[in-house]
This record gives sequence, C-alpha cells and structure tokens, in this order.
Amino acid sequence: MGRFRGSSTTVLKPKTTKQVSEILKWCNERRIGVVPQGGNTGLVGGSVPVKDELVLSLSNMNQVREFDPVSGILVADAGCILQTLTDYVAPHNHIMPIDLGAKGSCQIGGNVATNAGGLRLLRYGSLHGTVLGLEVVLPDGTVLDQLTTLRKDNTGYDIKQLFIGAEGTLGVITGVSILTPPAPQASNNVILVLPSFQNVLPLYQTVKRQLSEILSAFEFIDRTAYDLAVKHGQGRALSDEDIEGAECFVLVETSGGKREHDEEKLNTLLENLLEAENPLINTGVLSQNPAQFSSLWALREGVTEAVSKEGKPYKYDISVPLSSFKEVVDNTREHLRSKGLLHDKAVKHVLGYGHVGDGNLHLNIVADSYLPEIQDALEPYIYEVVSSYRGSVSAEHGIGYQKTHALHYSKDEASIALMKKIKNAIFQDENGLPVKFFIQKDIPQEIQ
Ligand code: FAD
Ligand code: MLT
Ligand code: ZN
Repeated sequence: MGRFRGSSTTVLKPKTTKQVSEILKWCNERRIGVVPQGGNTGLVGGSVPVKDELVLSLSNMNQVREFDPVSGILVADAGCILQTLTDYVAPHNHIMPIDLGAKGSCQIGGNVATNAGGLRLLRYGSLHGTVLGLEVVLPDGTVLDQLTTLRKDNTGYDIKQLFIGAEGTLGVITGVSILTPPAPQASNNVILVLPSFQNVLPLYQTVKRQLSEILSAFEFIDRTAYDLAVKHGQGRALSDEDIEGAECFVLVETSGGKREHDEEKLNTLLENLLEAENPLINTGVLSQNPAQFSSLWALREGVTEAVSKEGKPYKYDISVPLSSFKEVVDNTREHLRSKGLLHDKAVKHVLGYGHVGDGNLHLNIVADSYLPEIQDALEPYIYEVVSSYRGSVSAEHGIGYQKTHALHYSKDEASIALMKKIKNAIFQDENGLPVKFFIQKDIPQEIQ
C-alpha cells in the first residue's frame, strides 16, 4: 500500500522453527517489538513496521514438509509462496483450497495469519475449515506443536483457530497443515454483462440453482472497476457492443468432473438467461480456451493492481447485505461530492467489486493523493454505514495497523474484552503481568 512507513534497522530471516523461537525469546526478554512478515501483500499495513520494530521475515522458511496424495494433506513451512504450493500439488491432481490475486507473492503463513478469503471461498470454505494444524511460536519462544494431519480431533479446545486471522498478534506461525481438494477435471468461466445492479441478486439465485454443484466462483465488478482494469491492461477488453449499457459485470466460474457435462450446463444457463422474457443480462462472454479463461479472470483479479496504478487507493473491505452493495458505493460517491471532494485533484473514482457469494464488497476510493480531508470525509462515515447494517469493517483483509481504531464498529465491548483477556493470557511477563506492545507494533488499542 505504501501508506505506512517505519524506521526499522533490522530484518531477520530465520530458516528454522528453532531460530524463530530463539529470536522471539531474545526479543521478549528485552521487550523488543517484532513484526512478523510474510509476502508483504497485506492491504491494511499489518506486515510493515511503523516504528523501529524488528522485522521477522518468514521467506527463508519455504520447504514443503510432506504431502499425502491420497488424503491431499499438505504440510509446509509458513514461508512457502501460495503459487509455489499450487504448483507443487498440481502434478498430484490437487489444488490449494485458497486462491487470490496476490498468489505469486503471498505466503501460506500470511494467508493463515490473515484468514484470507479470496476467490475460492464460495466453493472450499474458509481457512478455519481447511487448515488442519499449525506450528506456532509463542512470544516467549515456546513452540506450540499443533501440526496435526487429523481430520477429526475433539480433544479439548481447538487452539489453532485462535491463530487463524490473529494477524501475528498472538504468535508466529511457522508450519501449516492444510487439506488440499482434488483438482477439478474441467473449469470454465463466463463474464455476464448486466444492465443494472438490481439484477445481481436474482442472477445469483438463478446461477446457483442451475449450476448447483459445479459453481465455484461468483465475482462482481462494477463498471468503473471494469474500465480501470481494462485501462491498466488487466485482461482483454470485451467488445464495445458487448459492454454497451453495462452497469456491472459478474464473473461465473464452474469447476466440475466432466467437461461435456459442465459445458452443457453453462451453455444452457446462458441460453436461459438470454431468452428469458425479462433478461437479467445483456450478454455473456464465454471463455473458449485456457488463454481466454485467464484473461477473463484477469479482468476481476487485476482490479487491485489497476486501482493502485490509477492513483492512491483508500480501500474498504466490508461485509454488508448483498442488496446494499450498489447503494453503499453510490452513497459514498455522493457523500464525497457533497463535500466538494469529487474532482481530478482529489477523489477520481469510487468503485465496488468483490465476492458476491460471500457478501463481501470491496469499496475503493481512488484519489490523486492521500489527503486528510478525504480521510476525514471517509471515516467514520463508512464505518457508521457498515455498523448500521451490523456488517463487518474488515471482511477479509484484517485489522492490521489501518483499522485498529475501527474494531468497535464490528465487535461489542464484551467481545473486545475477551480478546484482551486471551491476548494477555499469552503475553505474560515473568511476574504474571500482561506485557504490552510486543509482536506486531500498534495492535488494536482495544486488545493491547
Ligand atoms: P503479509 O502481508 O506479509 O502479512 C499480513 C499479516 O499477517 C501481517 O499482520 C503480518 O504480521 C502477519 N503475518 C504474516 N506472516 C505471518 C506468520 N507466518 N505468522 C504470524 N503472522 C504473520 N486478501 C483476501 O483475503 N482475499 C483476496 O482476494 C485478496 N486478494 C488480494 C489481491 C492482491 C493483488 C493483493 C495485493 C492482496 C490481496 N489480499 C487478499 C490481501 C491478503 O491479506 C494477502 O494478500 C495475504 O493473505 C497476505 O499474505 P502475506 O504472506 O503477504 O502476508
Ligand atoms: C480482491 O478481492 O481482489 C482482494 O481482496 C484485493 C482487494 O480488495 O483489492
Ligand atoms: Zn477480496
């Protein structure tokens, strides 16, 4: 994001769990702040120092420890890059249960630490379900060996869940055991062009009903997001005729066991949609080969990069009711207009895209530069809107540094108090008193 900068002098790149343990013990005894860092692709400033913390990079812990092609269980060092793991299991006809635009840089440990959602959550569920075990080093150097490969284990609390999505605030993940699903025999995708956002919900219902078990993604981009993706060379543009009158787009992916069967289902869906009395779509562009398949995906996956190339992004990653996605984007734009901030020298674009199947909207505001008046116009405005829907102020990117102050919009006092207790139980000094400001710089004030 380039929004947060510290003044650290030291980066350590341990190669073993033992070294991680020694580093944390040493830092703990001296009260030195530590920032665990994976691929550094996080979008909320969680992986960068903000003061002079020690950066603990996991990038040298990058070995696959074991893979069982029968069960599909993979055990790997936390520093393995997601794409590398995808390539590792591919010859065994397996895929990783998680996929995201940052796959070429992000690490499995970072994915687990952020409980990243991504493009396959609709099909394979969250990491809370697919992660079977973790190896974690606690702040005092204790190695917690929870690296089980068991599918079932009801012996006491499921402690590993605490570290999934904790963003390194409770310990450093050094090993991950994860269930990889069998690779689908056939994958296909289509971009559906919609005249109105109103059609997204009924379209989702129809697509779910007709594609049922082969539906693997249902991703949404609005017109501004599409235009920016095309402008910045992400994927191949659809024809002018195809996008005429388009208010938004939905990318549907299928993954199934038999190509002919899946193609027939997808073609029938398209026919039904186009021939309906009141069609929900203007048209649909079906990929015809692997290159087109990737190109259609790039239009969706490339929005993040396009937005960064276009200007300075203010990124909000929210869960709100699906029916309100457009309203939230439009209202934010109008709000900025009413403050006189919608022009070339301030906010250039307000756009929405995201994971419809997960109720997760990415609301992005692209500005010419980061300005305090834009920040003040956006916050707490957006958080209050989210809170009014009982939504989440961070659906998948986490709290990091950027959203520490916003936690209370999505969590009540009792929940925050319990988080605090859990954290203090792990961060005790030799006198049994809670230690503050260790691991991950300014952790949410509420849970320090
Ligand atoms: P980092 O960015 O290095 O770290 C993220 C956080 O985890 C930090 O707080 C860090 O301290 C902590 N951390 C990292 N490694 C460890 C570890 N081993 N132990 C303990 N703590 C650790 N997110 C989604 O959820 N869904 C998406 O679809 C998605 N798409 C993205 C697309 C792009 C192009 C980009 C740039 C980002 C995207 N993200 C998405 C953000 C996402 O959170 C990250 O990309 C990814 O999960 C972070 O992994 P990382 O290894 O880069 O972690
Ligand atoms: C996505 O879904 O593309 C990611 O979460 C990244 C982003 O929000 O830009
Ligand atoms: Zn996302």
